Amino acid sequence: MKRTILLLIIICSLGFIKNTSAQKKKTSESSNLTIEERVEELMQQMTLEEKIGQMCQYVAIEHIRETKKRMKGKSLIEDDQAGMYPGMSIQELKQLVIDGKIGSFLHVKDAKEANELQELAMQSRLKIPLLIGIDAIHGHALIEGSTVFPTQLSLSSSWDNDLLYRVAKATAKEVRATGMHWTFSPNVDVARDPRWGRCGETFGEDPFMVSQMGVAFTKGYQGNFGSQNILACAKHFIAGSEPINGTNASPMDASLHQLRTTWFPPYQAQVKAGVYTFMAAHNELNGVPCHGNSFLLTDILRNEWGFEGFVVSDWMDIERLYQTQKVVPNQQEAVKMSVQAGMDMHMHGPDFLQPLQKLVKTGEVDQSRIDDACRKILKAKFLVGLFDQPFSDIEKAQKILFNQEHKDLALESSRKSIILLENKDQLLPLDNPKSILVTGPNANNHRLLGDWTLPQPEENITTIYEGIKEVFNTADVKFIDSGESLLNPVKNTTIVAQEAENYDAVVVVVGSNSLRYERQEKTCGENVDRATLNLLGNQLELIQAIYQANKQVIVVLVNGRPLATPWIKEHIPAIIEAWEPGSMGGKAVAEILAGVVNPSGKLTMTIPRSVGQVTYTYNHKPMNFFHKYVDQPTSPLWEFGHGLSYTSFQYKDLHIKNEKLQPKEDVILSAEVYNTGTVDGDEIVQVYIRDDYSTVTRPVKELVAYQRVSLKAGTSKTVTFKIPYNQLGFYNQNMEYVVEPGSFTIMVGGSSDKSKQLVETINIINK
Ligand code: BGC
Repeated sequence: MKRTILLLIIICSLGFIKNTSAQKKKTSESSNLTIEERVEELMQQMTLEEKIGQMCQYVAIEHIRETKKRMKGKSLIEDDQAGMYPGMSIQELKQLVIDGKIGSFLHVKDAKEANELQELAMQSRLKIPLLIGIDAIHGHALIEGSTVFPTQLSLSSSWDNDLLYRVAKATAKEVRATGMHWTFSPNVDVARDPRWGRCGETFGEDPFMVSQMGVAFTKGYQGNFGSQNILACAKHFIAGSEPINGTNASPMDASLHQLRTTWFPPYQAQVKAGVYTFMAAHNELNGVPCHGNSFLLTDILRNEWGFEGFVVSDWMDIERLYQTQKVVPNQQEAVKMSVQAGMDMHMHGPDFLQPLQKLVKTGEVDQSRIDDACRKILKAKFLVGLFDQPFSDIEKAQKILFNQEHKDLALESSRKSIILLENKDQLLPLDNPKSILVTGPNANNHRLLGDWTLPQPEENITTIYEGIKEVFNTADVKFIDSGESLLNPVKNTTIVAQEAENYDAVVVVVGSNSLRYERQEKTCGENVDRATLNLLGNQLELIQAIYQANKQVIVVLVNGRPLATPWIKEHIPAIIEAWEPGSMGGKAVAEILAGVVNPSGKLTMTIPRSVGQVTYTYNHKPMNFFHKYVDQPTSPLWEFGHGLSYTSFQYKDLHIKNEKLQPKEDVILSAEVYNTGTVDGDEIVQVYIRDDYSTVTRPVKELVAYQRVSLKAGTSKTVTFKIPYNQLGFYNQNMEYVVEPGSFTIMVGGSSDKSKQLVETINIINK
């Protein structure tokens, strides 16, 4: 008996020794445990303050230093975007990390700073690494030396989900190489108002397309959470892209029907694809700010869709609940409202930890809400492997940023995204011109990089002028500076116009400026909204003066939102919509001018004639344009899905496998697409449906499928599609998702313009 007791004591104490040493080990070494178990292990050791610390994000030290250098006095305090912590020294900020009161940073400058911050975290009691987030929206463009891919509106014009997936994957590699783990992308807002400065950040106006492309991004970023993957963030939840007056963050009213039809699908698709984070929107929805909206953050997101990741607030929006929206009287109440609604992380700054700690202590916020948020944030850190390796290899980073593979991908993306809007008398491609004049405010600078970009090395970027010089290397290519300001009158209009008559062709590059580091000169991008949609300054006068002197004018638009340019459409023979085509965009534009590349991009946002048409989307309701405008045609300038090629395509033989569909049966259809021209080209085949009669009104057409196909000159291909039965449905008056029996019109073609489509009808049989 004695021996047995002794044995038991020995076994127990051995077990105890084993357990305590296991606890002392970093959790990452307990590799036999699941992530959930590792999270629990850590949770048990954490104080309330440390748990809330994980919910706190701050802007990083170099960002603060640079902001202080750039901005002085009043503007430093008042500027909404400054990201400063007045009264807090850098040393105090560092101490917060050591004390375990910060779980995440954003706007970290580079791999070196990321490592320095992680060193601080390694001095904290539990050594929990920091999650570092960044706006790597179209490439890792806030970091110097990275690959800047075309902006999202550009990329969407390729109608190529696989391309978007590869872009996101490459972006993830660059982000990861610089010691960061989380991008605030994809933006899956459905762009519905071109006055809004952020259209360029979106995949356009169609909810189905935005859903698909968002998923391509989410999957490209997150992969299987390997060492080269990052967390994605679906933002901004929700409906901020149709602000009431066009200005960012202004209110949005939307019926439940509209929410479920237009705004929710892209977000729900990201949840299905496993997106790990969500960001709330700046705006209010139906009178309730999104940052304190439990209907959105809990009822829909978690309870209905089953989202398991965490939600981060947007820049100072918890503060705005009391400072601007005034739904609560102070910061403590703002924190309470937001956290109770379902917010898990505060972007950014000091006004969160203490109020929340107090709220838990007084019982106003349940501790379980904190545990829930903290668990999910810790899980994210395990998922991206931060506990195994919080540091990054600075030398390796240099080899990944803007490497040849990424450069090639950037070029491929711009080639596939640029849209030929107009080509009267086949002016393009240019036929061996001896001389080309290049001018216009966006011809020879970095504005083709778009928003969410910081200065990039000159040698990495090909401007449009540089691209033309490179591609037309036997021609006399001259650049005349017309001045770069878009807000002020263009300089040298007369000189440019006089010079223009001496050239075989003139390329005028106009548009907008989304570069955030050219703050005073921005005409597009975040928080740069417009009341008009014309070309600003006297860019139009510049084009008109050139056109007077020489009719061989090509207008290239470099812009982040649709611009209403009816005069240009009517007069200028060739117009290219380049959007913001990224690092290699200048080369791609030049290749298209030369015909080395056959243009293939198609519009994903309708281009209106004037600001009066801002609500024009292709998928409008039947009565939208029943009555006509008296002063302008009712049709837009260029419709959704439009884009020209140097070859011609013809559609024949639309075949629907089963024209009488049984309930639940998918629609299988095919069409024959012919390249009837003399050059090879890519066509984007688009499929739209129209529910002929329905118990609530439905759009005149809705995109349900698309495919990019490459066709050699003179050849054809059978393109097939499977439209899931459910995609024919809608929300009825009882807010039930139904597919109603009856007939549907199926339209297949190279544009949303019905005159360019093949049309067939199918019937869904009522059982
Ligand atoms: C934007 C977000 C962005 C955040 C961090 C906010 O102003 O709305 O889209 O992710 O700043 O930079």
